[in-house]
Amino acid sequence: MGASTVALFCGLVFALLVLHGVDGSVTGVSTRVVGSGYKLVSIQDLKGGDGVVAYLEVIKETPETLGKDIKRLKLVARYQSGERLQVHVTDAESERYEVPQMLLPREGVESVESTASSRKLGPVEKKGVLASSHPLEFRYIAEPFGFAVVRKSNEEVLFNTSSPSDAGNGKPGFNNMVFKDQYLEISSQLPYKSALYGLGESTRPDGLRLAHGRQYTLWATDIGSWNIDIDLYGTYPFVMDVRDGGLAHGVALMNSNGMDVDYGDDSITFKVIGGVFDFYFFAGPKPLEVVDQYTQLVGRPASMPYWVLGFHQSRYGYKSVEELETVMRRYKEVKIPVESMWSDIDHMDHYKDFTLDPVNYPVEKLRPFVDNLHANNQKFIMILDPGIKIDSNYSTYVRGDKLDIYMRNATKHRYVAQVWPGATNIPDFLHPKSQEFWSTEVAEFYKVIPFDGLWLDMNEPANFCGGPTCYYPPEIEVCPQIDECCMICDNTNLDRWDDPPYHINSLGVHRPIYAHTMAMNCEHYNGIRAYDTHNVYGFSEGLATYKALKEVTGKRPFVLARSMFLGSGSYAAHWTGDNGATWGDLQYSIVSLINSGMFGVPMVGADICGFNFLTNEELCIRWTQVGAFYPFSRDHSDIHVGPQEFYLWETVTETAKFVYTWRYRLLPFFYTLMYGARMTGAPLARPLFFAVPEDPRTWGIGDQFLLGTDILVSPVLQAGQVAVNPYFPAGVWYNLFDPKEVIHATANNSFHSLEAPLDKINVHVRAGAILPMQETAWSTAEARKTPFSLLVALPPESDSCMSASAICDQVDIATGELFVDDDDQLQMEIKDGTATYVKYQAFRGHGRYILTANVTEGAYALKKGFVLQTVSVLGAQASPSSVLVNGVAGAAKVNFNNRDSSLTITNLNLPIGKSFEVSWDCTTKVALTI
Ligand code: NOJ
Repeated sequence: MGASTVALFCGLVFALLVLHGVDGSVTGVSTRVVGSGYKLVSIQDLKGGDGVVAYLEVIKETPETLGKDIKRLKLVARYQSGERLQVHVTDAESERYEVPQMLLPREGVESVESTASSRKLGPVEKKGVLASSHPLEFRYIAEPFGFAVVRKSNEEVLFNTSSPSDAGNGKPGFNNMVFKDQYLEISSQLPYKSALYGLGESTRPDGLRLAHGRQYTLWATDIGSWNIDIDLYGTYPFVMDVRDGGLAHGVALMNSNGMDVDYGDDSITFKVIGGVFDFYFFAGPKPLEVVDQYTQLVGRPASMPYWVLGFHQSRYGYKSVEELETVMRRYKEVKIPVESMWSDIDHMDHYKDFTLDPVNYPVEKLRPFVDNLHANNQKFIMILDPGIKIDSNYSTYVRGDKLDIYMRNATKHRYVAQVWPGATNIPDFLHPKSQEFWSTEVAEFYKVIPFDGLWLDMNEPANFCGGPTCYYPPEIEVCPQIDECCMICDNTNLDRWDDPPYHINSLGVHRPIYAHTMAMNCEHYNGIRAYDTHNVYGFSEGLATYKALKEVTGKRPFVLARSMFLGSGSYAAHWTGDNGATWGDLQYSIVSLINSGMFGVPMVGADICGFNFLTNEELCIRWTQVGAFYPFSRDHSDIHVGPQEFYLWETVTETAKFVYTWRYRLLPFFYTLMYGARMTGAPLARPLFFAVPEDPRTWGIGDQFLLGTDILVSPVLQAGQVAVNPYFPAGVWYNLFDPKEVIHATANNSFHSLEAPLDKINVHVRAGAILPMQETAWSTAEARKTPFSLLVALPPESDSCMSASAICDQVDIATGELFVDDDDQLQMEIKDGTATYVKYQAFRGHGRYILTANVTEGAYALKKGFVLQTVSVLGAQASPSSVLVNGVAGAAKVNFNNRDSSLTITNLNLPIGKSFEVSWDCTTKVALTI
């Protein structure tokens, strides 16, 4: 810890909390079905003064239905930099499983040192005075032990684990903390009115906010995301909580064991089947600050190559290389740019990873196809599933066998799962040699097909059978149905890992946790069980794949993964899995992508037009309109349904041409947002409450989203609908496609009814924004070579400023930024020679508008010869009489469009890598009124 951090922590005081008149007795026993709670027996300050270490003892042993209470617990609470507070509780006597440091490196609690003297327990501490600069405060009650986290600025209690029934006020209570080997429970009181978000991954018809009365089960599950309200592929024990006045904070539970989280009317309860309580509280208070603080802990989102922002085409069921060629040709014929072709399991030889089907995808055909894509600046992405077919003639299998990196079952034999290729072994990505194995396979295959990214599917990990004792009957050589279990499984004598005392509510029916995945008693090389690591299996594969790609290509890797956990976003992008081609799924997609952004995975998209079920023209039009603004934009469909490429319907083709033209123009804007995500975690697609948290009407809006702060997407999400009534944050908003349509929104006039015929999506730009843009092209690589332009959205009334009065001078009326880099570099970062950052500002002064560019590390942009050619100003009133470029008149061409009040200044020829100033005179001589 650095000196400044120590200084920050110095003087922090931990105080005894009197939240509800505790008399010390254990009341409300009737509600305590599984534990009597704990009492604090000793507490000491940590050296450095940044926290405390405390010991707790169980008050009274309780029935062992869910296992024995762990008698003595150790609690560490400490303030950390990044405005976060950690509260860690574990068995005081023996080590317990925690999320592996190799996946999520973080400051462990093992090494904390306490001061020699114990804190006094008792009344003296009842009124602790808190004088620290940390925004959060940890408080506790000794018996029954409870802790609370309080926001100091307003004394708001953010988290409070003491049961309200202990206050003796007759209120119904909840169990005080329970800590058993395979069952941990903790609750917090919550105000009913809190707006809660998070706890993924599931598909949410309830909308954006978590719904009272619901149970959220966190268990990585291979099941189509068209299923609502059940545990899906990823698990994110993270909650954002917005309170009255719009102050937000976050709570993450660093625990990868299965859990149910119950959201009651005035409480939240975590019921976890193992591990430890390792809570992190993030102070916010702005929603973006919460994401910033959270991603400081779990890892900033991965840097993305530029091309990821293009349009991607995929399908499960492209039968041959010829079919891939046809698809690309037909897209070209209708003039829709396709950035990349994706290859699902169809290319594999009997569904074996790192192989090619010699008949339909022979290397002699696929390689030229991929080379041709590359020659056209296009990309090729291939799928991988974790299961490796057991086959002694399969070199990948054999190499894994030799390195001995496959998961073993309880009898120490290799665990056998059934996935697409039949019987498979499952790599143990925590094994020290698994990286060597995976990197070798990726490298060998890359020599055959130089793919541009890898797509990780089925990594929950999926298993069409499931259970500890499955075997193939000798008579079965090939399963008749590739996706149905044909092993024989006897799951009658299960141990405590496959049949733990508490059954989480998987799929809403308490499905056994071994179902459809590997057995829970499977062991990693070091004896850790799948029971504990199940939810981070996908993370471990994502990390290994990221590292392998980095080694093999030497470039910035691109990984798209299905099963994610806290921090997976540092290595992978995500798609929302197997959605359905229904209007509901289109609606839910927005909440899913907003949630993913909050979890630190901003590069996210849903399968456009729907994966499962047959899509239809109207749905596909509407989905294309929204999908073009998803951070990750891909059309993908299932083998069991008909194709759904955009060229199949004329209307969809026209829609796609229009919206993707705009997406490609906006690529510099999207990429700069991605850079922002990398720097601070800020999601690309954001909910409206991020912009206006103080307005509770925004808290539940899940049918619109913002891109950054400046673009608002308000799509049609229902069949037959031709109008929308979106919310606009106070200010002026221009229709991006037709700036003569201007919305003047105020706090009292936020919802505006707009037409939305089938060929129209409402996308608006905030007045006050400066958007960096380029021209559209056949590929993102070509688009990157086109001249830049800036869209400067001025508030219309700003044109009334003519005077050189102080009030006008130097007040920014619009700002924007641009990040460009060499995306072969591993990270997006402002670095001399490989990246350039520009800050744009528009302000008024001396009767003129002045647009400035302030460049950081201009060398890269200069080397690339990037130029700014055009500035388009929205909200202009008339043609200016003079335009000066760096103080000189004459060079630029000026055009004023009366119809939409836009001013275009072209022929600028200004290097992006050099600071500049462009100014033009105000046109109406009206005194500014503010
Ligand atoms: C399930 C994935 O979610 C889907 O996208 C893919 O097409 C199929 N597996 C086949 O690989």
